Order: sequence, then C-alpha cells, then structure tokens
Amino acid sequence: MSGILETDCLTLTRFVLAQQATFPGATGELTQLLNSIQTAVKAISSAVRKAGLAQLYGMAGNTNVQGEDQKKLDVLANELFINMLKSSFTTCALVSEENDDIILIEPNKRGKYIVCFDPLDGSSNIDSNIDIGSIFAIYKKTDTADVSEKDALKPGREVVAAGYALYGSATVMMLSLGKGRGVNGFMLDPSIGEFLLTDQNIKVPEKGKIYSINEGYSYLWDDAVTEYVRRKKDPKFGKPYSLRYVGSMVADVHRTLKYGGSFIYPANKESPKGKLRLLYECIPMAFLMEEAGGLATTGRQKILDVVPTSIHQRCPIVLGSKQDVQELVDLYNPKV
Ligand code: AHM
Ligand code: MG
Repeated sequence: MSGILETDCLTLTRFVLAQQATFPGATGELTQLLNSIQTAVKAISSAVRKAGLAQLYGMAGNTNVQGEDQKKLDVLANELFINMLKSSFTTCALVSEENDDIILIEPNKRGKYIVCFDPLDGSSNIDSNIDIGSIFAIYKKTDTADVSEKDALKPGREVVAAGYALYGSATVMMLSLGKGRGVNGFMLDPSIGEFLLTDQNIKVPEKGKIYSINEGYSYLWDDAVTEYVRRKKDPKFGKPYSLRYVGSMVADVHRTLKYGGSFIYPANKESPKGKLRLLYECIPMAFLMEEAGGLATTGRQKILDVVPTSIHQRCPIVLGSKQDVQELVDLYNPKV
C-alpha cells in the first residue's frame, strides 16, 4: 500500500488470469471472454448510474438533440453484451433474454464458448431507481458439429463459468469459474474502473432469517409453498422470518447469498412453470448457489439437473441456505 492507493490490488482480470494458470491446457480464451463481459458490465454500470441525466429512462424510439436515437437501458445493455461477446472471438452462439432466436456468431469470429445471458434483469424496476443486474452462464462447445440451438440446451451441470453483476449502491460482480471453484465477489472501484476482490470464496449461511417471495400471488400457490410460508411466519416453528422482496432477481439472490434464507419464484396455478427463465436466470444463479454451499431446486429436482428443451423456457425455483431450501423440498416430497 502506498499512500491511499493500493499498488498490488487483486483485480478481477488478475484473479481470472491466476485461475487460468491452474487449468491444464488453458488457452486464455475464457479469460478473454470474461474480459469482454467485464467491459459490457462496466459500460452498463456507467449507463445505469447516469440513466436519469442521460435521459435513458424508458426512451426507446425517441430522438435526442443530435438527432440520434436514444436507447432504453435494456436495449443498450443487450447491445453491449452482444457486441462485446461477438468481438471477443471466443463465442459461437449467444442466447439473450432480449432476442427470440439464438444468435449464431459469424464463422470468422467464432470461438468455442456459448453464453446465455439476461443483459438487464429486473427491468421493471429501472424507472424507480431500484437495483437491477446482469446474469450469465457460459458453456463450452464440445463437438465438431455445426453450431446450432442444441448447443445451448445443456443442463446446468455443464456450466464452465457463471456469474452476475448487481448495479446496486455499488456495482458488484459475483463469479464462479467452475465446479468446485467456489464463488468470488468483486466490487467496481469507480476511481480506477476496475473490479477488486472483496468477497473471497463466499459461502451462504446454512440457515437464514429471511424468506423472499412475491406474496401477492399467494392465492395461486400450491399447498407446499403455502405451508412453507405459513411456517416461516408461525412462532410455533421458531422465531418468525422477515420478508424481503425487491422484485429484481439479482438483488434478491445477492441478499440471499450474503445473509442466507430462501428466494422462491414458484410455479403457480396460472404459471405452471413459474416466471423465471431456466437458461439465463435459474441455471446461473443455481450454479453460484451450489458453489457457495447452498441449494437450488424446482422443489422436486435440482435446477442443475434439469435438461433444457427450449432456449426461453421457464422454471420454478427455490434457492438459498441448505436448511431453508430443504424445508420446502421436504414439503414437496413428504416422507411416508
Ligand atoms: P425481467 O427479466 O422481465 O426483468 O423479469 C424477471 C424479474 C426478476 O428479476 C424478478 O425476480 C421477477 O421478475 C419478479 O417478478 P414478479 O414481479 O412477478 O414478482
Ligand atoms: Mg430477466
């Protein structure tokens, strides 16, 4: 440390490079890919911070004084992810929440990775200045067949790396570089424009004190979820839990990762598969949660074991502290 400036700080890029050195045969392609995601995230973070000033709120289709089209934040975030990933020469296919079809990268820019992402999750919260985020999962193409949609339909167990960025009171990035490698957290230091390691090998508490679910839909819940939430509030089952629900998955999952408890977006009578998307919402968050020592299930099956059949399919999810998630799993699978 020299004066107020850290001269040997552990940046995200440095962390990834150090990890790369521990993968036998690594070529640096994943490092390059993660750098392109970092660039997209830094640019989105900057846009989110000045959204009001730059008139980025809800303005798609409008024209600014220079006669250029203004882009809404979610459109901008999507373009940043796509452009940075395409130009990284590391990907062959992209799945974005914002694009109906899979994006196949032109042959001369192809690499071996497939990235599924939600460029700006929680977008209904943008106009009220509430936390939003970006989520991603990375897979490797393992065969030599021509790239197609089927390459993106891999179960979460095959994830090579996953993470999310949360544009909260600070911008943070939580990242797992694969099975058994845990989860590390980085905070963006705006003074140097770098993510610095802040949460090393973070672990979710075994049990928490918070449950997180949109309780407005309780009239549509099944018996297991109804009973689970009832118990969380009934002093007969211990000190009642607090309810926290931001309505931005990234914010709700981040709090769950740090403080413990459960986050639930269940199936309900109107949405038999829930709301959240398997490929770029449920799988990356489930991967991080398992790597942090927690659980993530549909209630009946581990999220990472679900085999996707279409790129935008939905999936019910409960994730968080082992004990809290297990309680709901037990209600779904009563022991006879
Ligand atoms: P989005 O991808 O359109 O932003 O929707 C996903 C969001 C999640 O961030 C959040 O967990 C959920 O929708 C909230 O839904 P609801 O308002 O039904 O509770
Ligand atoms: Mg989303």
